[in-house]
Amino acid sequence: MTLLTRRTALLAATAALALGTNPALAQGLPPLKAKQTYKVGFAQTESNNPWRIAQTQSMQDQAKKEGWQLVYTDAAGSAAKQVSDVNSMIAQKVDLIFLAPREEKPLIPAVMAAKKAGIPVILLDRSVDPSLAKPGVDYVTFIGSDFVDEGKRAAEALIKATNGKATIIELEGTTGSSPANDRKKGFDERVKAESGMKIVASQSGDFARDKGRQVAETLLQAHPDATAIYAHNDEMAMGAIAALEAAGKKPGKDVIIVSIDGTRDALQAIVDGKLLATVECNPKFGPKAFETAKRYAKGEKIEPWVVNTDRFFDASNAKQLITDAY
Ligand code: AHR
Repeated sequence: MTLLTRRTALLAATAALALGTNPALAQGLPPLKAKQTYKVGFAQTESNNPWRIAQTQSMQDQAKKEGWQLVYTDAAGSAAKQVSDVNSMIAQKVDLIFLAPREEKPLIPAVMAAKKAGIPVILLDRSVDPSLAKPGVDYVTFIGSDFVDEGKRAAEALIKATNGKATIIELEGTTGSSPANDRKKGFDERVKAESGMKIVASQSGDFARDKGRQVAETLLQAHPDATAIYAHNDEMAMGAIAALEAAGKKPGKDVIIVSIDGTRDALQAIVDGKLLATVECNPKFGPKAFETAKRYAKGEKIEPWVVNTDRFFDASNAKQLITDAY
């Protein structure tokens, strides 16, 4: 299924729900019994960046607040380990699994195994391939941002800052992950509409700072005429800033950088004039995740996509908002 139809599928499922059809009940999604307290799993993808650490902290804080037991696993960047982490949660008979699927396709078996075991799954921050698993049918819902829109907003900030003229290097996130696919789509489609904007290279930096630095270094050598870098997350943007400085270039002047997330380091880089802007992708999922699980236990209709709304950080607000950043 194409990316366009994936987003369309979520929106169509939302519309069906608004019309009163609850696919969950019709199609055998496992229920969650109403209880005082629960044992729930949270299968994290990795913990190598501030975004993931903030997300885990938010989940742990909320579990504590609710008085629920949280079985936490860290897949350390391996989709195969994340599948076995989910299997281990199933063996431990958790009541519900919060899953942040590292990649879209490899986590399908985990979603299906939980369904087969009668354990509801809520996807957090990343989604799975909708041609293989569907919200309201195979898992309860996807809670997260509109990644296509994040990419589009990053493109618009860059178009505005460069008057629609730039030679761009793109640092992609983890190959096969929904944010990498969708952020690329949103950005690339928007810049294609501007004749002066040209993407000359696009390669994965795996959402990691050092990998982003290495990839930026190589691509800057191949394209010394680059005037802009779009990074799919702030960690890779930080890597790109380091690569530019090592090459004797001034980030923010010789090369303009735009990215996504809203980390403390990124906001500081905006204040320092090295980063143009970052589109927020809020990692604090705890309150919404647990509230959605409670609504599901009560038998409420859950929308297929619980959409997070994202702010935008640039020179106009970064200094003021940095104290709240992670
Ligand atoms: O899925 C969200 C993305 O994953 C964040 O942008 C990134 O920093 C994280 O690793």
